[in-house]
Amino acid sequence: MDKIVILTGAGLSAESGLGTFRDEGGLWAQHRIEDVATPEGFARDPALVHRFYNARRAQAQEAQPNAAHEALARLQSDFDGEVILVTQNVDGLHEKAGSKTIHMHGELARALCSTCEHRWDADLEMDGDTRCPACGQTTARPDVVWFGEIPYHMDEIADHLATCTLFAAIGTSGQVYPAAGFVQEAQYAGAETVELNLNATDISRAFATHHIGPASQIVPEWVDSLLA
Ligand code: OAD
Repeated sequence: MDKIVILTGAGLSAESGLGTFRDEGGLWAQHRIEDVATPEGFARDPALVHRFYNARRAQAQEAQPNAAHEALARLQSDFDGEVILVTQNVDGLHEKAGSKTIHMHGELARALCSTCEHRWDADLEMDGDTRCPACGQTTARPDVVWFGEIPYHMDEIADHLATCTLFAAIGTSGQVYPAAGFVQEAQYAGAETVELNLNATDISRAFATHHIGPASQIVPEWVDSLLA
C-alpha cells in the first residue's frame, strides 16, 4: 500500500495571515529566539514569553485554513493508501481543515506543566500565575517545543519515514533539524521525494521533484494529481 508522509512548515499557513519565521520581516526578525523560544529565555522572563505566545495563540485562533490545508485534508480522506501529516506548525490550522496531524513542535492550544508534565487545553491568555490543574503549581508553559528541546513523536515519525513511498515537504525552509533531515531518511527508505515551496530552500537539492509557487495554488494542484 502507498504511504505518503508530508512535512509542513510555516509557509503553509502564510496565506492564512500567519507570519513565517525566516522570510523577510518574519517572527525571528522581530523577536530574539534566545528570549522567546528557549527554556533559558522562559526562566529569565516568563512574562515576556507568555506575552509572545498569547499573541500568537490569539492570531491562530482567528486564522482560517487556506486552500492548501483543505487540499491536504482532502488527500488524507480520499487517497487510496495512508497519508501521514507531520507539522512543525503550532497553529492548529490542519485540524481546523479536518486533518489528523502529528505535532512535532507542539501546539499553541495546549499547556504543559514544567513540574509534573501534565498537559491540558490552554486558556487564550497564560501568565506566570497560571496554575497546573493537576499539581497546582504555577509552572505552566505553552506546550510548544523550544530550541534545545527534543521534538515530540520522533520515534513514530521515524517509523513512518522508514516505510513511506513518497515524502513531501511543504512551506518549510529546511533550516531546523531534525525536520530538515527527514528527506534523507525517506530517501534511504527508497521513497520518492518532492518539495513544494514559494522558493528554493537550503535543502532543495535533496529532493527529486520540485513545485515552486504559493502553497494555496501548488498544493491543491499536486493533490489533484495524486488523486487522479
Ligand atoms: P521558515 O520561516 O523557516 O520557512 C518558511 C518557508 O515557507 C520558506 O522556505 C518560504 O520560502 C516558504 N513560504 C513562505 N510563504 C509561502 C507560501 N505562500 N507558499 C509556500 N511556501 C511559502 O518556517 P519553518 O521552516 O516552518 O520552530 O520553520 C521551522 C521551525 O523553525 C519552526 O517550526 C519553528 C522555527 O523556529 C520552533 O519554534 C521550535
